[in-house]
Amino acid sequence: MIQLTDKVAIVTGGARGIGKSIALKLAQAGANIVICDVLDNMTEAVSEIETLGRKALAVKADITNAEDVQAVMEKTLATFSRIDILVNNAGITRDNLLIRMSEDEWDAVIRVNLKGTFICLKAAAKIMMKQRAGTIINISSVVGVMGNAGQANYSASKGGVISLTKSAAKELAGRGVTVNAVAPGYIQTEMTNHLPEKAKETFMSVVPLKRPGTADDVANAVLFLSSDLASYTTGQVLHVDGGMIM
Ligand SMILES: NC(=O)c1ccc[n+]([C@@H]2O[C@H](COP(=O)([O-])OP(=O)(O)OC[C@H]3O[C@@H](n4cnc5c(N)ncnc54)[C@H](O)[C@@H]3O)[C@@H](O)[C@H]2O)c1
Repeated sequence: MIQLTDKVAIVTGGARGIGKSIALKLAQAGANIVICDVLDNMTEAVSEIETLGRKALAVKADITNAEDVQAVMEKTLATFSRIDILVNNAGITRDNLLIRMSEDEWDAVIRVNLKGTFICLKAAAKIMMKQRAGTIINISSVVGVMGNAGQANYSASKGGVISLTKSAAKELAGRGVTVNAVAPGYIQTEMTNHLPEKAKETFMSVVPLKRPGTADDVANAVLFLSSDLASYTTGQVLHVDGGMIM
């Protein structure tokens, strides 16, 4: 069994969905958890982490705001003295066909998914480089590799996350810091619940394993990449998509 005993992990967007599953999975393996989210209510995630016997810190923060992110890093260091794992999970969608997509829809998604990931990665990298240890996992998406009609903004942001992951992996490797991405396929969460039935059927028709993924499927991949088992793995994209891309 993978052990993360006394490691300290920050999970962005950890209040619900995939982020919450990741936070609980890392806590189950022994890590203390910091969750940051724009949502006011993080009590459910915090109490579930504490029930597992781990320490939990919730910080309300918008990842697009560098001051908020700096406060997350400072509060983490003040409470736990180090940061071993950063999971850049927070993300949004604003779907529309390209010719109807407003600049606001474009900007909002690029700002949260790509710029927000950059801001968090940069802030944690400074600390991890000093520690000469740490691992960063960025949540991308299959559509960042294959594109998707109606998601030009989201696909571009998630493709950007993959390039950012590889560039950061190259820059940070010399300081003992690894950076990888996880690219989930169609996962059942609140983000995908509102998709039209036709879009869900289209996704399912290209999933060889013939079932939607769960948040737990994604969390398992993050657990592996967070652990010493992945200490020689950096700059990689791990697809958790039922075989959608192979
Ligand atoms: N659900 C899927 O099928 C799927 C597939 C591929 C990738 N992903 C990615 O997985 C990640 C999690 O997705 P999910 O389905 O759990 O979504 P979700 O909407 O259920 O959860 C996202 C969380 O991020 C938080 N968040 C949003 N903007 C934020 C900001 N600016 N600062 C801080 N927190 C913010 C939200 O409040 C929410 O708690 C996202 O990056 C998403 O793009 C999801």
